[in-house]
Amino acid sequence: MPANDKQYVQHGVAMTCRSFQEYVDMFQLTPDILRRGRILDVAGGASSFVADACKQGCDVIAADPLYAHSPEAIAEHGEANRREATGKLEGLLDVYDWSYYGSLDRHEQIRADSLARFVDDYGRSDQRHRYVSASLPNLPFPDETFSLIVSSHFLFLYDSQFDPDFHIASIQTLIRLLQPGGEIRLYPLSTLARTRYPALDRVLEVVGRAHPNVEVDFVPTPFRFLLMATEYLRIRRA
Ligand SMILES: C[S@@+](CC[C@H](N)C(=O)[O-])C[C@H]1O[C@@H](n2cnc3c(N)ncnc32)[C@H](O)[C@@H]1O
Repeated sequence: MPANDKQYVQHGVAMTCRSFQEYVDMFQLTPDILRRGRILDVAGGASSFVADACKQGCDVIAADPLYAHSPEAIAEHGEANRREATGKLEGLLDVYDWSYYGSLDRHEQIRADSLARFVDDYGRSDQRHRYVSASLPNLPFPDETFSLIVSSHFLFLYDSQFDPDFHIASIQTLIRLLQPGGEIRLYPLSTLARTRYPALDRVLEVVGRAHPNVEVDFVPTPFRFLLMATEYLRIRRA
C-alpha cells in the first residue's frame, strides 16, 4: 500500500505520554519562558511535562478529563495506550519522519520513561493538585491565571471528533486564561490523516475578530514526526 494511503486509526482520543524534552523541542521552550510565571498544559494526558518541569522549579498545572481517575487506573490506561500506539506505528514506519526520534525503539524508550515519571508524579499527594480533571472548552481556572499555555496533540489533531465550533470555543477559553503579555502554543496543526487542519483559517479568523488584543503567528519548530507538522501556532496577548 502506498505510504499516502496508510492511516493511523484511532477510536476516541488516545492518552499519550510525551516527555518534557519533546515539549521543549516541539514548542521551543526556553528557560526564560518556562520561568516567567504559571504554566498550563491542556490535554496533558500521561506526559511527564508537569513532573519534570516542576523538578526544575517551574510552576505547571495540567488539565485533562482523565485526571478524574485514580493513579492505578491511569497508570494502566497509559500503559495500554502506549503499547497500542507502538503496535500501530510498527505498521506505519514509512509514513512518519523519524529524524527526531531516530528509530521506533528510541521512541518507545522515551515514551516508557516519560510514562513512568508521570505515573510516579501523579501518585504523589504533594503533586496531585497539579493534575486537574477538566475538559475543553470549559476550564475551571480564573481569568488571566497563566503566562504560558501549551497543548500538544489534542486540538486540530482529532478533527473528525471535534468540530470547528469546539476549536473556536476552546481557543477562546485559553485566551481568557492568559495573563497580559502571555502566550499560547499549540502543536501540531495537522490531523491524524496528516493533512493541515482544514478549518484552521476559519477558526483563527473568528478568534481574531472576537479578540483584537491577540496576535497570531506560525513559528517553525525543528521537532519532526507527523509530515507537514513543521510549525506551532502561537497566540500572544497584548
Ligand atoms: C494524544 S493525548 C496528548 C497527551 C499529551 N499532551 C502528549 O502530548 O503526550 C490527548 C489527550 O487529550 C485529552 N482530552 C480528550 N478530550 C479532552 C477535552 N475535551 N479537553 C481536554 N483534554 C481532552 C485526552 O484525555 C488525552 O489525554
